[in-house]
Amino acid sequence: INIILLGPPGAGKGTQARRLIEERGLVQLSTGDMLREARSSGTEMGKRVAEVMDRGELVTDEIVIGLIREKLGRGGKGFIFDGFPRTLAQADALQALMAEMDQRIDAVIEMRVDDAALVARISGRFTCGNCGEVYHDVTKPTKEPGKCDVCGSTDLRRRADDNEESLKTRLMEYYKKTSPLIGYYYVKGNLNPVDGLAEIDEVAAQVAKVLDRIP
Ligand code: AP5
Ligand code: ZN
Repeated sequence: INIILLGPPGAGKGTQARRLIEERGLVQLSTGDMLREARSSGTEMGKRVAEVMDRGELVTDEIVIGLIREKLGRGGKGFIFDGFPRTLAQADALQALMAEMDQRIDAVIEMRVDDAALVARISGRFTCGNCGEVYHDVTKPTKEPGKCDVCGSTDLRRRADDNEESLKTRLMEYYKKTSPLIGYYYVKGNLNPVDGLAEIDEVAAQVAKVLDRIP
């Protein structure tokens, strides 16, 4: 099965994607993670996108579609698209790529969260630089201060774009360019809203219900 996690910055897409990898054997394709990887490995493309990302703007469709195209094909039990597509052009490109592989998107999960909650989510977020586990100062702290619960690493990081200024731009980009996808997938008939404001386990349960309904 192939699913899309759709929602504004901080909605919990990455958090839910990590659970689905473990529980369902799906492969996570996060364009945000791919772009951060490109940055830290210092590739030409990474250098070009760094400033755009830090400002909170969207990277060009051409670059992200190229990244996704490279990763498709090695699917295991299927893909979780996390943070992609983010524009109508990306959605059309994904549909064409899936058709080429004789596959389809089985469900789009729309994670609904209000704006006030997003600010709190983003400003408390930190992640493990080693294994990628996502934490929050208040809602999901590490058990031992300064140490990742999953892998024990002390390399805990905050993202350069998780500041108030960039977050405003990220939200604006979301409303202008990404939120039209809600209507796009509604019309296609595979939009499934979940309450992203619920606790992490409860959101996971709602996501599981959607996946269990896929024939
Ligand atoms: P990306 O990395 O995709 O960032 P984003 O969409 O802004 O999403 P986030 O990673 O901020 O949030 P999330 O929904 O994954 O939430 P999380 O699980 O971490 O993109 C970054 C940048 O890359 C973009 O701005 C753009 O420049 C570029 N880019 C990426 N993809 C692109 C594309 N397709 N096209 C063009 N440009 C692209 O959770 C957030 C926090 O809340 C965490 O601390 C977590 O612990 C906590 N939390 C999660 N769930 C809950 C819950 N249910 N209750 C309480 N706390 C919770
Ligand atoms: Zn870790």
